[in-house]
Amino acid sequence: MIDLHCHLLPYVDDGANDLEEAIELLSLEAKQGVTEICLTPHLRKGIFETPDEKIRAQYERIRPIAESKGLKLHLSREYHWDELTRERLEDGDVIPMGQNVLLTEFSARYSVVELLQAVKMVRTFGYVPLIAHVERYPLTTEALMRELREMGAYIQVNADAVLGYDGRYVKKLAWSLLKEGLADVIASDAHSTGARPPRMRECREQIRKKLGEPQAERLLSENPGTILNESPGERRYGRQIP
Ligand SMILES: [Fe+2]
Repeated sequence: MIDLHCHLLPYVDDGANDLEEAIELLSLEAKQGVTEICLTPHLRKGIFETPDEKIRAQYERIRPIAESKGLKLHLSREYHWDELTRERLEDGDVIPMGQNVLLTEFSARYSVVELLQAVKMVRTFGYVPLIAHVERYPLTTEALMRELREMGAYIQVNADAVLGYDGRYVKKLAWSLLKEGLADVIASDAHSTGARPPRMRECREQIRKKLGEPQAERLLSENPGTILNESPGERRYGRQIP
């Protein structure tokens, strides 16, 4: 499996507290059958403004440890949709996932219009938004997810939501999106070994049981792999993951 949304990098956001916890999280991912992880520390104005240089330094520190556990790491960020992210886009100062994908997060207070405008703007700058944990937004409906995908956005759902750790309503919404084929990627969004650990294997197993092996493979391995490992120059812009 490939985990595209994870806060195990220590000392940079509200994820892993220290190196020890980060190493434990790496072990948990490896034990569950994850082979690649894209680390996505938060970038959010006024809350998480850790500079990219500090993040890169932590990444270089942890990469050999991950390799020793058979894990390949990648680096990107979770971009909260705000002034700071817009500035970064204008300056061409973002760390994309793969060639041109940006994990983009929204607040619960955003309107549908703002969401659509954001997706359009990210695309105008040549990036494809992978919309983080869509099950969290009150405005998420099947119709809206369909529209966002038609605009070229990818849809990410958290493993915890699928498993019911975020409540019954969220679980129902997550499964309705999965059944309708409206999710592109499932990721852990892991933050800690305690309250928010990675639950990739448990989630894969549930999806395999309910929707079959090809769907489990598509959401937790194939699609994340396509996003991370497409060849240089291949633009996903305007193209859907099948
Ligand atoms: Fe996150």
